[in-house]
Amino acid sequence: MVSRRGFLTGLALAPVAYAAGCSMRPSAPGSAADSTRPLPIPPPAASTVGADGVRRFTLRARTGTTEMIQGRQTPTWGYSGSVLGPTVRARRGEQVAFTITNDLAEPTSVHWHGMHLPAKFDGGPHQMIAPGAVWTPNWTVRQQAATLWYHPHPHGATEKHVHRGLSGFFLIDDDAADALDLPKEYGVDDIPLVIQDRRFTAAGAIDESDTTDVGLLGDTIVTNGIANAHLSVSTERVRLRILNGSSGRLYNLSFGDGRAFQLIATDGGLLPKPVTLNRIQLSPGERVELVVSLVAGENVTLRSLPITDRAGIDRAAEFGFDDTFDILTLRAADTLRASAALPAALIPMPALAAATTPATRSFDLQWFMINNRRMDMNRIDMTVPVDTTEVWTVRNKDNWPHNFHVHDVQFQVVAVDGNPPPPALSGWKDTVYTTPDTTYTLAMHFADHTDPTYPYMYHCHLLHHEDQGMMGQFLVLAPGQQPAPMQMDMGAMGHG
Ligand code: C2O
Ligand code: CU
Ligand code: CU
Repeated sequence: MVSRRGFLTGLALAPVAYAAGCSMRPSAPGSAADSTRPLPIPPPAASTVGADGVRRFTLRARTGTTEMIQGRQTPTWGYSGSVLGPTVRARRGEQVAFTITNDLAEPTSVHWHGMHLPAKFDGGPHQMIAPGAVWTPNWTVRQQAATLWYHPHPHGATEKHVHRGLSGFFLIDDDAADALDLPKEYGVDDIPLVIQDRRFTAAGAIDESDTTDVGLLGDTIVTNGIANAHLSVSTERVRLRILNGSSGRLYNLSFGDGRAFQLIATDGGLLPKPVTLNRIQLSPGERVELVVSLVAGENVTLRSLPITDRAGIDRAAEFGFDDTFDILTLRAADTLRASAALPAALIPMPALAAATTPATRSFDLQWFMINNRRMDMNRIDMTVPVDTTEVWTVRNKDNWPHNFHVHDVQFQVVAVDGNPPPPALSGWKDTVYTTPDTTYTLAMHFADHTDPTYPYMYHCHLLHHEDQGMMGQFLVLAPGQQPAPMQMDMGAMGHG
């Protein structure tokens, strides 16, 4: 086993000013609010559409410095900027093409999390970009409107690359979503919000030194790249597209006064109808879209409460399950522009299960292994025949938190321990949290994109677990096609 050093060490060293963010105080005007800064909104990624109709983007992975904490310069990594990345946006049916340059001193990759696309453009550990090299993936977007994201996926180094700042949103639009009267003015009432936790050294650098069994846990919440942010709201309703971009921390999100909000989308897109909740849990890699209503002149704080779903978890405190954080203060203007009431129905979800004779596979999650094996880039763990719907059962056999992410597809959670899933799992998902000793039955359809050479991944999205090998690979094959995987020279991968 690796380090069991506790997160308590980190807490004890937390600077007082930031520990104050964890207290239960009501938001008092003129106090802590004065030290907040406006939430940065990632700029939309510039694109050009040529005569061929292809929408082209350029991204550059690079180093920089960011004022994550006010008044301190922190060395960070970003795409086409010092931290995070521009928001890529494309429409269903559109062809997209990227020119991605790696200006880092070590190899990286760019994975399109949640995207249905050919395996050779998936950006996993088989598509490394050497320092100074350029990678040019392209594909046609063929899935419904959704909040996806992109991030590095170098084998064994994903946590480091993401933790240093490499992540961006990838929003898909479509006609069906456009036809719904939802908040959709980017940066005004439609807000991308990536939540991450960091620990800083006295000099202001990101502290990568104290790994727990769930990876790097921070004592400072960073939203869209900065600590202590507020969002000025000018409309009655605001839509938050929230990504848990943390390495290993779970969030139990709620508003300071416990007010209800509407859950309108999960990982793969809009739900059949809005669901009223006052809390939602997000594990690393998961996304939700919430709509919250505000009253003119008020402040309300998005917070994270202790994780209540902790049955079977040993050392919950060490894994951050007891922590409380203020995430983001929403400050409503003195007059708010009216917002339309939410539509009663959003996007229907057709049932997938048993559309064809389903293959049933099971996945046991334990320690850094799936089905008692750790990742081997030269081992194909399974092959999936194209155009099939499969049913996978996933079980966390551990006393650690894990989740389960599948590349290439969005899945439906058909059952949790044989029961219908809770509302928060009623839509399309690509990542699902797994409570110990609970069986998650997932249905997914592998429509196309056969490739005998390049695999897709499935893995735990706690990045430390993924890096430690809690991951497997599958090929999607055409009838009669034989696997022809490429052999990786692991010695030549050159991970820093
Ligand atoms: Cu978000 Cu395999 O990754
Ligand atoms: Cu992914
Ligand atoms: Cu895990």
